[in-house]
Amino acid sequence: MDFLKISDITPVQLREILALSAKLKAAHAQGQPCSILAQKTLLMLFEKNSSRTRVSFETAMTQLGGHAIFLDTARSQISRGETMRDTGAVLGGMADFIMARLYHHTDLLELAKGSAAPVINGLTDLEHPCQTLADLLTLQEFGKLKPGAKLAFVGDCDNNVAHSLMVGAAMAGMSVSLVGPEEARPKEEYIKAANSFAVLAGSGSSVSFTSDISAGMAQADAVYTDTWVSMGDEKESAARLARFAKYQVDSNLMSYAKSDAIFMHDLPAHRGEEVSAEVMDGPQSVIYPQVHNRLHAQKGLLAWLASHQ
Ligand code: CP
Ligand code: NVA
Repeated sequence: MDFLKISDITPVQLREILALSAKLKAAHAQGQPCSILAQKTLLMLFEKNSSRTRVSFETAMTQLGGHAIFLDTARSQISRGETMRDTGAVLGGMADFIMARLYHHTDLLELAKGSAAPVINGLTDLEHPCQTLADLLTLQEFGKLKPGAKLAFVGDCDNNVAHSLMVGAAMAGMSVSLVGPEEARPKEEYIKAANSFAVLAGSGSSVSFTSDISAGMAQADAVYTDTWVSMGDEKESAARLARFAKYQVDSNLMSYAKSDAIFMHDLPAHRGEEVSAEVMDGPQSVIYPQVHNRLHAQKGLLAWLASHQ
């Protein structure tokens, strides 16, 4: 079974992964050794940059008793023309899991087609589902992952983080309000998929996009933003910074949300762009517990995938 999109798992499976993540996190905090992935290898294939994804996956494998290998596409035979499908067949016949961070989601699909081992999306242009697992674990820990609670995602709503998050949060029964300029409206298929999960959750929640900041953020329990210039968008930097300027999450924007709302960011952050330093480093920010949950959520995912092969 692959994990290429957040919707590759069902809401029940999502709950199982979050529960396993929380259990492994608690066991690790108590110093209990774990070797459930002994003799197992994770191949980590990177085309784009990363700090968190690489380190959290490698640490996850160490803590579960397994091993991780880092492979840079630029230094692999992919850069000399070996196809993604052949690469998947080769690597997936040696490693027990592949995690890949690639520009094009279509390349990830090709890699997965070739691989006999499960393939995990470590971020593509379309989705960042491992980030969503950590985000949901964080929302759960801060008491915000409850049916009917509202998550406001502000800024570039047509990006990988927003896509996976809106679907994942809807699967967990949250309402999601995507707030940004019209040019950054999320892909319609994602709004539709998220709303189907919202209906399934039966909590009366819904997922919608608006350009109206006060309406979109009103009564939010959690406020989330991501960079305005994702990897691959660098050439459009100037236009993007101008497009999103009024959607910076600062204390004025936070004042529309509930007074006990938490602030979240997948990182890396750009203070003075998508978020003000005051909010990023302020009392409502949960960015550090959130980023550390990348490790715990991915341990849960790897352990869960290993038991579903
Ligand atoms: N949030 C995230 O995926 O960070 P990295 O790009 O550092 O892996
Ligand atoms: N949307 C960002 C997320 C980085 C973790 C990007 O794709 O660059």
